[in-house]
This record gives sequence, C-alpha cells and structure tokens, in this order.
Amino acid sequence: MQADLMSTSQLNIIILAAGKGTRMYSSLPKVLHEIGGMSMLERVIHTAQGLNPDSISVVIGHGKDTVRQRIHAEVNWVEQTEQLGTGHAVKMALPHLSAQGRTLVLYGDVPLIDQQTLRDLLNVAGNDIGLLTDVLDNPTGYGRIIRNQGQVVAIVEEKDATSTEKLINETNTGIFVLPNHKLAQWLNALQNHNAQQEYYLTDVIALAQVDHIPVHPLQVRASYLAAGVNNKNQLAQLERILQQQQAAALLQAGVTLRDPARFDLRGQIKHGQDVSIDINVVLEGQIQLGDNVSIGANCIIKNSVIGSGTTILPNSHLDNCTIGCNAQVGPFARLRPQAQLGDDVHIGNFVEVKNSTIGTGSKANHLTYLGDACIGEHSNIGAGTITCNYDGINKYRTVIGNEVLVGSGNMLVAPISIGDRATTGAGSTITRNCPPDQLTIARSRQKTITEWVRPEKNDNN
Ligand code: UD1
Ligand code: MG
Repeated sequence: MQADLMSTSQLNIIILAAGKGTRMYSSLPKVLHEIGGMSMLERVIHTAQGLNPDSISVVIGHGKDTVRQRIHAEVNWVEQTEQLGTGHAVKMALPHLSAQGRTLVLYGDVPLIDQQTLRDLLNVAGNDIGLLTDVLDNPTGYGRIIRNQGQVVAIVEEKDATSTEKLINETNTGIFVLPNHKLAQWLNALQNHNAQQEYYLTDVIALAQVDHIPVHPLQVRASYLAAGVNNKNQLAQLERILQQQQAAALLQAGVTLRDPARFDLRGQIKHGQDVSIDINVVLEGQIQLGDNVSIGANCIIKNSVIGSGTTILPNSHLDNCTIGCNAQVGPFARLRPQAQLGDDVHIGNFVEVKNSTIGTGSKANHLTYLGDACIGEHSNIGAGTITCNYDGINKYRTVIGNEVLVGSGNMLVAPISIGDRATTGAGSTITRNCPPDQLTIARSRQKTITEWVRPEKNDNN
C-alpha cells in the first residue's frame, strides 16, 4: 500500500538554498561549492530528480544570479529576497505546489542525502508528516525533537531551548515530508516570536498537533547523509566520505585501487575488468576505462576514453582524449583536448598532443609537440619534434602519412604534409611538402672554418 502511495500521489520537492553561507568565507554562493566534482545544489537536484517528482522548486536568495547561471536544470527558481526563516522560504514556493499530494523539503547544503533515505521517509510519512531525525553525541546548534509519550509533538531550536531541552540529543535534520492540503494553512499561521525572529518551518510540527495530523519520525541510517555544510571543514569531511564510498564501490566491482584513501573520482566512471589504478590519481568528468587498463601514480584524467590493455604511466595529464587499445602513454605525457590515439600508439615523456589523430602503432616517445596534426599508422616521430601550427593568428594542420620516419629535432612548419614512408633528416626545418618514399633534409650544411683562431683573454681588461 505504501509503495502505491509513492507512485500515485503527487510529489513536489522544495530545495532551500537562499542562505548566505557566511562561514565559507567565499564569494561563491555556498550551494555552488563542489563535492565530488559537482556543486552541492546540483547533487541535491540530481537526487531529487531520481524520485520522479511532479515539480522541483529551488528557493534562492544570496548569490541568486550566479546560482541560476551555473545550474542548468529543469526546476522552478523561486526567489526569497529576504531570508526570514525556513518556514518563510518554503512559503515562497507555495505557488508551485499541487493542491493535493505531498511536499518533500530538502536543503541545498545537505549534499549527500540519498534516494533510499528519501524513499524510506516518504513511505514512513504516508499522507501525514515525515520527519528525518538524527541522534547526535553533540546536538549543539540543532533543533531538538520534543516527544510526548513517544509521539513527536514539537521541534525546539537550540536558541529557544530550555536547559532541559538542550539535553535532548535527538535532532531535526531539516528534511520533511508535508501534506499539501495543510501546508499553506500552516505556513500562513507561522509566527516569528522566537529568539531569531524567524518564521521556522519546524513550527509546523506543533501546528499539526492541533489538526491531529501525526508526525512519523525516521532516524537517518548514518549522520553524514543529513549533514549540512556550513564551513570548509564540513565540506572537506563530506568530500572524504563520498570519496571513500566511491572507492569502496569500485573495489567491490573489481577495480584495483592501490590505496583507496589516495584516489579521487570527481565524476562518473565506467570500467571493464582488471583495471588497476595506482595512488594519487584524480579522475574528473566522464571516464571510460576498458579491460586491463592500468593507470600509474599521480595521473589526472578528465573526460576521456581509454581502450583495453592501455597503460598510462605516472604523472600524465589527460584531458578530453580518446585512446585505443594496448597503447602506452607517459610518464609525464600531456594529452590535451581532441587528442585521438589509435591502438598500440606510444606517447612518451614530455610529449604534448593537442587536437591530433595518431594512427595505429605510431610513436612519439620523447619531448615533442604535436598540435593540429594527423598522423598515419606505424610512423615514428623523432625526439624534440615540433609541429609549428600557429603563425600568431591562425592554426594550420600537419599531415603525416603511414610508416613515416620524422628525424629528431624537426620543425614541421604547417600547413605541411609528409608522404607515406618518407624520412626526414634530423634537425630539419620542413617548410614544404615531403614526397613519399624519399629522404628530405632541410638544414644548412655543416662547415669547418680552418683559418679560425680562438680569441685569447686580454690581461689588461
Ligand atoms: C535548521 C532547522 C533546525 C535543524 C537544522 C539542521 C529551522 C527553523 N531549523 O536550522 O531545526 O536542526 O536546520 O541543519 O528550520 N534557508 C533559506 N531561507 C531562509 C533560511 C534558511 O533558504 O530564510 C535555507 C538555508 O540556505 C539552508 C537551510 O534553509 O540551506 C537551513 O537554514 P539554516 O539557517 O542553516 O537553519 P538552521 O538554523 O541550521
Ligand atoms: Mg544550518
């Protein structure tokens, strides 16, 4: 029966995010600070969307323009010009609620709340009130749950609590489920005759008593799920918890993490079997790793696809690139956006690749810049080669064929093309197209000046 309620009754969600976040000491609105590479508010919106609600309203105030600019989600943006309290904030969203059904109230600065907890709370609430509670060793600062013969009858804020009430360690997490047909009436009845002169959402609990609407508390299964962020310490603590969980899930799924405490995932990962990740690796955005991919220590990899059997050696930096199978990259390689490496490609130390395609089996092993290049299969780029792709205004392409040998220290002045199986001499500055199958050398001839005399030091100076 409860499951039916989940699917049939209207569900509106309100996310409170108008507060200032003074203790973050930041010009960025609090809810835009990131956890696991996603802003706290985006994370909460994402979780809310997972419940398939009929509407999501986000109440914004401080930094509202920045919040709206940065968050692209299908929500109702509700402005609260003055922060007069949580009850007032919810009231601002009333026009977006259905007449019937239920409203779930979330906080934009409680980022790790999960769908399971919210589904449980909705089930516990039924058509009455659901209240997510916690039990804390140190409840200072939180609203306390007042019970009478076991029933929840009120919530008292820390600043309004008597010394006896302050001893209660059952607290309000702030997350509620409320019946829509009563909500407007209760919110309109709120008074701000309290220590903070605010309209407290928590006061609806006492008002519900008058209407004989029961409150069903649910204790959160772990405190971090309902933990709010008020400062950078709390932000860092929740970041660690999230990272530990992500690492544990990857280990569980068979990924080898050499040290789960030294692994950061700021996005999503898809992986095959026998993937191995060494310490201090940071993965950002959307990452795809095939079977048997191995990532060395200190690599930073963002929005990239890495094929099966490929090894990324330590200290490499990959951003928006695609790598085929059985390739080898690094140590100390830098793959910039639109680097596309085929199977069996080798990119060695201090090699930078940008907006370039490198065909199967080709290699650039040392100290090289490949920008706006298209390299065929089984070609070898000598150490210290640079594609001179930029004249200060425009960028030009370098096209290199199959089985080409580019000598060491070549300057390839683009636009230029080098034919299949061509060889270029070491130290060449190539300014014209090179024909296939030939050796092209473009450097001044070496000469020895026999009559030259080495200058001698003049003792008078
Ligand atoms: C609130 C609860 C308290 C609970 C605690 C949990 C009330 C009156 N108190 O207290 O019982 O233990 O959360 O952390 O609800 N906000 C607005 N507009 C406002 C006021 C607040 O959008 O006018 C937002 C804030 O941005 C924040 C959330 O609501 O995300 C909670 O506000 P906050 O001031 O932190 O409430 P607390 O005093 O911590
Ligand atoms: Mg708070």
